[in-house]
Amino acid sequence: MCGIVGYVGGQSALDVVIAGLRRLEYRGYDSAGVAVLSDGSMAAAKKAGKLVNLEKELDGRPLPTGSAGIGHTRWATHGGPTDANAHPHLDNAGRVAVVHNGIIENFAPLRAELAERGHTLESETDTEVVSHLLAEEFSSCGDLAEAMRLVCRRLEGAFTLVAVHADQPDVVVGARRNSPLVVGVGEGEAFLASDVAAFIAHTRSAIELGQDQVVELRRDGVTVTDFDGAPADVRSYHVDWDASAAEKGGYDYFMLKEIAEQPKAVADTLLGRIDGGGSLRLDELRIPDAVLREAHKVVIVACGTAFHAGLIAKYAIEHWTRVPCEVELASEFRYRDPILDQRTLVIAISQSGETMDTLMALRHARAQGARVLAVCNTNGSTIPRESDGVLYTHAGPEVAVASTKAFLTQLVAVYLLALYLGQVRGTKWGDEIRSVVRDLARIADDVDRVLETMEPVRELARSLADKDTVLFLGRHVGYPVALEGALKLKELAYMHAEGFAAGELKHGPIALIEEDLPVVVVVPSPRGRSVLHDKIVSNIQEIRARGARTIVIAEEGDEAVTPYADHLIRIPATPVLLQPMVSTVPLQVFACELATARGNEVDQPRNLAKSVTVE
Ligand code: G6P
Repeated sequence: MCGIVGYVGGQSALDVVIAGLRRLEYRGYDSAGVAVLSDGSMAAAKKAGKLVNLEKELDGRPLPTGSAGIGHTRWATHGGPTDANAHPHLDNAGRVAVVHNGIIENFAPLRAELAERGHTLESETDTEVVSHLLAEEFSSCGDLAEAMRLVCRRLEGAFTLVAVHADQPDVVVGARRNSPLVVGVGEGEAFLASDVAAFIAHTRSAIELGQDQVVELRRDGVTVTDFDGAPADVRSYHVDWDASAAEKGGYDYFMLKEIAEQPKAVADTLLGRIDGGGSLRLDELRIPDAVLREAHKVVIVACGTAFHAGLIAKYAIEHWTRVPCEVELASEFRYRDPILDQRTLVIAISQSGETMDTLMALRHARAQGARVLAVCNTNGSTIPRESDGVLYTHAGPEVAVASTKAFLTQLVAVYLLALYLGQVRGTKWGDEIRSVVRDLARIADDVDRVLETMEPVRELARSLADKDTVLFLGRHVGYPVALEGALKLKELAYMHAEGFAAGELKHGPIALIEEDLPVVVVVPSPRGRSVLHDKIVSNIQEIRARGARTIVIAEEGDEAVTPYADHLIRIPATPVLLQPMVSTVPLQVFACELATARGNEVDQPRNLAKSVTVE
């Protein structure tokens, strides 16, 4: 939530910051603002609404280009999405400007204290106290980095702060606790951002900032300390994707591009996982095999779409390894006093690696002695850094708020993890493992085939644009797919959409069925567990008899469903457990097209943000 950019160097700071914000708008789009330093003075502009509103404002009232600047795109927490609450926030003298991501929990007493000392605060935000506190500290120490350290020591909560001061025109200072902040190091210039996407067009050399660290950016270098001023250890890394990966590449929306990228993302995530001896190799895992052999329980924590990947993982982990597996929403897990010990393996799934609930859940698990393994798409992010081990997905940058390619690669990662557990625990033979990995590799092509046949799905979506409700049913691994289909529709089309386990139909949901209500049914493979297939065919008949319009997603060759399907969406036949890799894809396309037909913003749905970095 909230995107932050900072820059110091020889280019126009204003241009660099605005271009960076464009890349970060997925993080929040309630308002945008910038501040630049030029000739010892500060100039700032901010505007409620999307970045384009700020750009229009700047067209009418240009700012100096400057050599240092900061910018912000906001997802509102404290105070509504107004001009006054937009960042940056300045002190009363207009010498300090601050942008912030996170929540400062003790802002109320700090605000009261500042008011007593004669400060006038103009917004309803928690952030504004920081600019005033920084101004006070700077007036005594004369150094922005030191002022930041002093202020941070007084703040409670989660925060990333980036600030500039007109008296230090070649310095940008950042501070980080919990919320993401990455440093980009260029030739005679340096960058700060919530996500490398903001500076990838300029440099691919990045530095991870750790917890409770302050960074000072100058043209000729970067200094990192802890909040007490002691030099801090940092990790430098090379960003392995380039600027074009963060562009729309000819598609109308990032979501369309990301849906289309799924075959490649799946293939990339599988790359190099089998070693010369034919064994599965997960290099980044870092957790010793002995620990994996000893684990007596797996607990998966995640939020949103990643949670649905976790639900599917449970079927694979329990079936392939016989280790009990629980899956829990990260936000519930942490406050429920879960039973964990050193033999519990916790898997935290997160595309961004920054979701606050997931981060807090993993910290809780580690504090109880459990080993935590992250499945993550973002190198350098907090969740893998704080985990015992990591399995990276290789989806590339995902920009659209609704997750698509990250989900499919999370599935690949959890299947690989389940197989690896099976390998080290001896519940799976090597040839069985290789056979599943080959099946997964084939599925990249199957996803491609599904994508080629999506026009009828788009047409169907358009025809349903004036409906209020769509229901989704599934069984076995199709149940989480139904949940994911419903989530996509809520996020994008703003429709009432619910997913149910088809077996629960007669315990309530069937009462919702009325004439012409669209119900999407994800049908399990007729091979494998055919009993599940037969049961769902009965469920389709039950809802159709009550007037539902049935939209059936079924394998090629599954003729048993044909008589009961008002609309039939065919998917390639896959092994039973792997079917979500293909059955999810039409549901992504369906939601995307319905959103477009209803005139909604596909990449930036209302009220949502891609990374939820507050609880
Ligand atoms: C937000 C996004 C979802 C995502 C969820 C978890 O709600 O809109 O698309 O699934 O966060 O995000 P994570 O980065 O932890 O996977």
